[in-house]
Amino acid sequence: MLENHNQFMYICLEGIDGAGKSTQIKLLYDWLIESGHEVELVVEPTSSPVGVLIRKMLQNSRATEPDFQKTLGLLFAADRMILMDKIRDEESKGKIVISDRSFYSSMAYQSPSEWIAEINKFVRKPDLVILLDLDVETAVSRCQGTDEFEKKAFLSKVQKNYLELSDKEDFFVINANNGVNMVHRDIKRVVAPKLGICVDGIV
Ligand SMILES: Nc1ncnc2c1ncn2[C@@H]1O[C@H](COP(=O)(O)OP(=O)(O)OP(=O)(O)O)[C@@H](O)[C@H]1O
Ligand SMILES: [Mg+2]
Repeated sequence: MLENHNQFMYICLEGIDGAGKSTQIKLLYDWLIESGHEVELVVEPTSSPVGVLIRKMLQNSRATEPDFQKTLGLLFAADRMILMDKIRDEESKGKIVISDRSFYSSMAYQSPSEWIAEINKFVRKPDLVILLDLDVETAVSRCQGTDEFEKKAFLSKVQKNYLELSDKEDFFVINANNGVNMVHRDIKRVVAPKLGICVDGIV
């Protein structure tokens, strides 16, 4: 049990809407599997009843309003508590868990941060956080501005929060303006040494 815990890695990709998290988490998953690791891919919001509700609420045109964001903050905290069970399970099997978003998304998107931290007090924090850093303009154009969340002003604030968090919490920041393959290479270069994988001749 102790041995499993030492080897366990809970890795997450963070970044604003359109930063490339879903694209990159799949590439990361395939690469880790190819490297012979046992991996579980999780996504926030999850497919739990709370996660389903969150996805529905994110479609609401008022989704970026402060009160609505507070409700989302509470729901995300609940959804994440449910996810913790699964993470504990995978941990006990010695698997690596890679996650598309985490507690830090709540810290970047919702506020005030002290309250978000408090309601997420019992949530497991990732061992390794990779922030995909993308210009807001590019993010909006990638997402075609289809919903409220992709509005520029909102994403600019979230981006600023992410960069502030990255200083405090030692995130690995990757330039997500680059092409898919280059971003994947940069992610591998961060993860490989943590897991003792050889990549591009670097261990
Ligand atoms: N490096 C890249 N260069 C150009 N386009 C990209 C890149 N990475 C992803 N894309 C494209 O940008 C769009 C958004 O990517 P993706 O869905 O991976 O972002 P995301 O961070 O998961 O967004 P969300 O937070 O909204 O789920 C997709 O159409 C994807 O194909
Ligand atoms: Mg996504």
